[in-house]
Amino acid sequence: MKEKIEALRLQIEEAMQNASTGRALYELKMRFQTELKGIMSGMKDLPKEERPAFGKIVNECKQAMEEKFAEQEVVVRQKEMEQKYASERIDISMPGKSRKQGALHPITLVKNELISIFSGMGFTVFEGPEIETDYYNFTALNTPKDHPARDMQDTFYLAENLLLRTQTSAGQIRVMEKQKPPIKILSPGRVFRSDDDATHSPMFHQMEGLVVDKGITLCDLQGMLAEFARKVFTSSTKVRLRPSYFPFTEPSVEVDLSCTECGGKGCRLCKGTGWIEVLGAGMVNRHVLENCGVDPDEYSGFAFGMGIERIAMLKYGINNIKTLFENDTRFLEQFEN
Ligand code: PHE
Repeated sequence: MKEKIEALRLQIEEAMQNASTGRALYELKMRFQTELKGIMSGMKDLPKEERPAFGKIVNECKQAMEEKFAEQEVVVRQKEMEQKYASERIDISMPGKSRKQGALHPITLVKNELISIFSGMGFTVFEGPEIETDYYNFTALNTPKDHPARDMQDTFYLAENLLLRTQTSAGQIRVMEKQKPPIKILSPGRVFRSDDDATHSPMFHQMEGLVVDKGITLCDLQGMLAEFARKVFTSSTKVRLRPSYFPFTEPSVEVDLSCTECGGKGCRLCKGTGWIEVLGAGMVNRHVLENCGVDPDEYSGFAFGMGIERIAMLKYGINNIKTLFENDTRFLEQFEN
């Protein structure tokens, strides 16, 4: 019996050296306990006086083995952890998966910049509808049905009197009808025209400005535009007003800026003139004021309207307006801010 126990102990101890996982060690422990039980069941066949000595041996063996198993368990667990860490090791120097982030479109960037400049001068934003009535887009702006100026702004008609607005000037009427002077508003938004070449698109964006108060003159318009030009472009950008014609302003002016490319010396962009045309403006025609219930003998005002694409193209040196609408990310990425 004693030998049997000794043999079992040696056998299990040897097997323990090879049990390299927690599971193998557990199974070995179970085997040892079962076999030990088997040996112990032979105890009843021993003479009574030998039993206590035998029991002592069994208990000692059991205790010794339990200690051995506990020690081995610590060793195996340690080894298993090391293996687990090694297999799950993360290379923190590896480049991460970069996720593309969106950015504001250049038209939005310029629109926001314009709004911020003019808000600094006290303007607030009013946004009119893209589908306008013939009245707001033309008639109230002193452009009746038979007026030749309508030709230049042919558009998409949705019904006899409903059209896609051709100019944000329609917003002037909507504001003046509702608000008493003093008025100082900006009206940005999409407009539509039958126009299509490298610098014109059937859909583009405009930013309208309207100021109505007592004693407003063309000088106020000029001063404000000079400030706008310096802020959007450079501190040395100059403004020039040229006589022009719009049915809803009198006098009307075309506003040029000193060339943003050559600074006025003359280059290909300004076709050697040193000046670039950027917007239309003028003093609000008295008929327009009357149409909106504003007394032209008491109040005067100026209005201006600029193409946001045009400003963006000059600011960023873009030569084809279409690139602004193609959504080619290689183009748009250049404006990430
Ligand atoms: N609405 C005019 C255009 O689209 C621009 C303009 C606005 C002119 C306001 C004068 C005053 O061409």
